[in-house]
Amino acid sequence: MKATLALAAIAGLVSSVSGQYYGIIAARSASPIHLAPIAANGQRLWIGKKTASYCPANVGDNCPRGKRTTFAGGDGTLGMGTVVPGGQQVYIDPASGAIGYTQAHSASMPEGAITTGWTLDEDSNPSFGTLDWKRGLLACSTKGNSSKGPWQIYANLKRIDFGPECLGFSALTANVTKASAWQYT
Ligand SMILES: *[C@@H]1O[C@H](CO)[C@@H](O)[C@H](O)[C@H]1NC(C)=O
Ligand SMILES: *[C@@H]1O[C@H](CO)[C@@H](O)[C@H](O)[C@H]1NC(C)=O
Repeated sequence: MKATLALAAIAGLVSSVSGQYYGIIAARSASPIHLAPIAANGQRLWIGKKTASYCPANVGDNCPRGKRTTFAGGDGTLGMGTVVPGGQQVYIDPASGAIGYTQAHSASMPEGAITTGWTLDEDSNPSFGTLDWKRGLLACSTKGNSSKGPWQIYANLKRIDFGPECLGFSALTANVTKASAWQYT
């Protein structure tokens, strides 16, 4: 329990107020990705990159700060924690397993994109929840060595051979009260 609380405190994501949005941190002990946040950047998800977001000038000060990445849903499908009308849907690229999200104001995805298979468990632990994709999640080093970031996030598609540069991890979630960006870019 003590370790659990420390983890939550380190992540800085836990809110005592329940909400429909949540941040995600990776759990893979004794690895460089342990307790690292997952960030949206360039229509893909990463560990070791900054959140990339956009705020339209006419919304200005009413935009969330856009410095961190949050998600919404997780019961079957998954969305980004955005304010932009229409939202941004999370999908899995069937060719590579890369997890991506739609651009704002567009439903466009690669042909055969997978949008289902997500489950969010918020009841097993009082401090954090767990988000799963049915065959698991991977963080793959872009440098070809699992100890060197940044790492890109993939779904463990059966037909793809992921190499030793990839680390499996658990995705821990913690509620936040608001979407953290107008839209992710
Ligand atoms: C998050 O919020 C939901 C909905 O209010 C609640 O059911 C759940 O227990 C909360 N989870 C955590 C980890 O606080
Ligand atoms: C990966 O990087 C680490 C840290 O720099 C190094 O110790 C290790 O030998 C590298 N592994 C491979 C397979 O290159």
